[in-house]
Amino acid sequence: MVLAIGNDHSAVEMKKEIQAYLESQGHTLINVGVDTTESCHYPVQGYKVAKLVAEGKAEGGVLICGTGVGISLAANKVEGIRACVCSEPYSAKMSKEHNNTNIIAFGARVVGIETAKMIVDAWLNAKFEGGRHQTRVDMLDEIDRTGHLKAAEE
Ligand code: RB5
Repeated sequence: MVLAIGNDHSAVEMKKEIQAYLESQGHTLINVGVDTTESCHYPVQGYKVAKLVAEGKAEGGVLICGTGVGISLAANKVEGIRACVCSEPYSAKMSKEHNNTNIIAFGARVVGIETAKMIVDAWLNAKFEGGRHQTRVDMLDEIDRTGHLKAAEE
């Protein structure tokens, strides 16, 4: 798969390790994260990864900051993005199966590298189940596109 990866200054080493890990599995990584520990602003990298995914230039995205929170919030502001911050693999797997997430995020100050690898593996190996979950994801997309949800106004 072609995957976009981004990080802020708090996650340089983890980004490099995750990038190498995913490349060793045969994935192609587009790195739009920072590669120095000089302080930067995580919305920039969150936005860059989100745009690559939303425009179809990457099939999925991986975002890492200190907690994974700020960078995933930034990504979720881009239309068509469903980014999820996870600290363990079960939620990562379910976020794909039920929520069809297109970006996974985690915190370099929260999880260790082995847990981070398990999170990306669980997410990449999972498949969206569709069916009733599609209905719900369509609702998320409706809010995203229109700022409204018809089902909540009935
Ligand atoms: C940077 O210090 C930190 O705020 C950032 O990496 C992230 O954790 C924000 O959500």
